[in-house]
Amino acid sequence: MPDPVAQVEGARRMIKDRNTVWHHATVSRSRREEKNRHRSVVLWFTGLSGAGKSTLAHAVEAELYRFDCRTLVLDGDNIRHGLCSDLGFSIHDRSENIRRIGEVAKLFIEAGVIAMAAFISPLRADRERARSLFPHGDFIEIYCQASLEVCERRDVKDMYRRARAGEIKEFTGISSPYEAPENPELVVNTGGSPLSDCVGQIVDFLRQRNILPLEMR
Ligand code: ADX
Repeated sequence: MPDPVAQVEGARRMIKDRNTVWHHATVSRSRREEKNRHRSVVLWFTGLSGAGKSTLAHAVEAELYRFDCRTLVLDGDNIRHGLCSDLGFSIHDRSENIRRIGEVAKLFIEAGVIAMAAFISPLRADRERARSLFPHGDFIEIYCQASLEVCERRDVKDMYRRARAGEIKEFTGISSPYEAPENPELVVNTGGSPLSDCVGQIVDFLRQRNILPLEMR
């Protein structure tokens, strides 16, 4: 476990106004986890638009919900309607998007929740920065692997066609980069395998890591 004081000191170096003092919770994360009967972790789904990140995150959530797990899906399209509605798709804005989501996920981890973040999160450095906010083992990167060809063929939102036509600028995979993870905790073949198999793969992983309630292990 990282030293919480060192963590706070690290964060302090980046904050503008230093006149704030960290208040430690009485109802701590570990007490919440104990009550929930499962651990809180971040499942970070990354992949191209149309790879199936949100579909998979919601399907995993539905499965965990059956066993009374506390969960929340943070989804790129939805969050961009609120918290991140001021951000576009430049590399800079995407980095800020991922920074904010990392911080939001951290709050949910403190609340004892299994947080599922479904964002393209195209840059390794941004994902690594998000990972660095969490104790080792609490950030589970899941690469939703589906080729550009498959995503473009699906084109559920008609965005690939519009990006090819030049109507949408800086579109991931077409005119903006996507860096696949080099060492993700999990790779799921969302481009080819049935959804239920992908869900099973993730639930099995959580089971093996003793994250889930006893009756699910
Ligand atoms: S991220 O790159 O900053 O992680 P995020 O996951 O929040 O992206 O949002 C991606 C979603 O925004 C896509 O699924 C798509 O529906 C929509 N979108 C709109 N414009 C773009 C674009 N230029 N590139 C990628 N996705 C876009």
